[in-house]
Amino acid sequence: MASHLSLALSHLLRSPFFLLLSLSLLTYLVLRALRVTGNSRRAIVTASPPGTTGLPLIGETPAFLAANHSGRGVYDFVRARHLRYGECFKTNILGRTHVFVSSIEAVRTLLGHESPDFSKRYIRSITELVGDQSLLCASHEQHKFIRRHISCLFKLDSMDSTIKKFDELVIHTLRGWEQKETVLVLRDAMKITFTAICKMLISTADEQELEILRNDVSQVSEAMLALPLKFPGTRFYRGLKARRRIMNTLRKMMDLRKKGSECHEDLLQGLVRDESHGNEPPLTDEQILDNILTLIIAGQVTTASSIAWMVKYLDENQEVQEKLRALHSELAFTNYLSPLGSEVLNLMPYATKIVKETLRMATIVSWFPRVALKDAEIGGLRIQKGWIVNVNARSVHYDPVVYDDPVKFNPGRFDEDSRPYSFLAFGIGGRTCVGMNLAKAMMLVFLHRFVTTYRWRVTDSDSSLQKGAMFPMLRSGCPIAVSPAVAQPKLPDRSGDANVKRMQFMPWCNVT
Ligand code: HEM
Repeated sequence: MASHLSLALSHLLRSPFFLLLSLSLLTYLVLRALRVTGNSRRAIVTASPPGTTGLPLIGETPAFLAANHSGRGVYDFVRARHLRYGECFKTNILGRTHVFVSSIEAVRTLLGHESPDFSKRYIRSITELVGDQSLLCASHEQHKFIRRHISCLFKLDSMDSTIKKFDELVIHTLRGWEQKETVLVLRDAMKITFTAICKMLISTADEQELEILRNDVSQVSEAMLALPLKFPGTRFYRGLKARRRIMNTLRKMMDLRKKGSECHEDLLQGLVRDESHGNEPPLTDEQILDNILTLIIAGQVTTASSIAWMVKYLDENQEVQEKLRALHSELAFTNYLSPLGSEVLNLMPYATKIVKETLRMATIVSWFPRVALKDAEIGGLRIQKGWIVNVNARSVHYDPVVYDDPVKFNPGRFDEDSRPYSFLAFGIGGRTCVGMNLAKAMMLVFLHRFVTTYRWRVTDSDSSLQKGAMFPMLRSGCPIAVSPAVAQPKLPDRSGDANVKRMQFMPWCNVT
């Protein structure tokens, strides 16, 4: 019986029917395995970014506000989550889902390629403060139109007189420092950047008018990260009232220009006159006013704060400071340097690297927000329509894979060109900072005058940040004590030599 059975089984195993059956079974198993892999790959593609959206309604807003009101600054909220979840994570702030991304690939997708799936977007309260016609908040099409009108007024030749004016202000301010025991660099830098920018935009020179405007602008800036509570006593309410006063002042100025009762060589006049755009309509009054306020806010604190960080970094890196002083003492004795205008700044390649390294380390704008206009995917993770995706610039600037030893202040790292999409101090793509060249010029002018006039010592090395500030600003204000820089031997007159030729290339304009 058993031998019959084994004979039948051996026949069956060798039969074509069995071979066909085994082949079908094998094919089925392989296909199934392939389908499982495909599915899991699809599952990865559609995974949501890691991170928590916190409590219902309020999300992680309390933690965000707590960081904003601490000496570590608002970025501490982002840093903690970046360490926990990696280069892409989500959170919820003020009722919106925010995703933070910091891979070079994500930077390229969001900024470099200007994906039509994403558009710049600030929180609603910022729009109320700077105005919905501001470059920061306008819709995609409006933005292009406004930017075309404004950016041509930021060309180098138009900025030359602003840079010269800034140079005079720096010289005047530095002169006053010798008598002082302690100087707060940030406070004085805020004054001179504000004065220079207002002169360029609206030609305001009257000290009292400037002081009133400065206080109002600072209240608007302070309200930008406050809770949007609109009742007396709140920071947001104070910001809105300050905005109204600024708008009234600017509107009066604009009316005088329109009537022809006043005429100045400045940006306001350029926009009111608006000759240079062929068939395109001019900017509306609202667009002009919102953007003048935007330019003041975007330009003053960012540049002043960068100057203060630069002074601090150079104090902490004496060998860099000495090298710079030696190079610039030589420059200071040439004939071209009074006053400093845009054309002379190409003579400062080492200072340009110091500016760039300062901007990398300070990363004044820590992240850039964009809204997803439809469901999308970044780095294999699902982004839902309506989420805000923030390019985490600070994390890119401190990524040891991108920048070797990133916590070290090392201007020499810019001897080589940076990796594409890795230097984000002024952003990249269609939203790149409009005032980039002006900011760099102001930093270089300040640096040249300062290092050739004084040696300095920072008297409070505390690195904690001002609470509630939109940008990372030193809480100490960067206090310094100065002493005269030792005079260098006078160098031979080199007027008419190759420098004049080099001026025309202006490499300092290509910092990014
Ligand atoms: C060191 C100083 C400065 C830094 C670090 C800085 C940084 C930036 C960054 C990173 C952006 C792009 C943000 C994004 O893509 O979302 C930006 C945009 C902008 N900046 Fe600056 N900025 C500085 C100085 C200035 C100055 C001096 C002005 C003008 C007076 C200015 C006006 C603007 C404006 C209007 C925008 C918006 C551009 C647009 O959306 O088309 N900035 N800035």
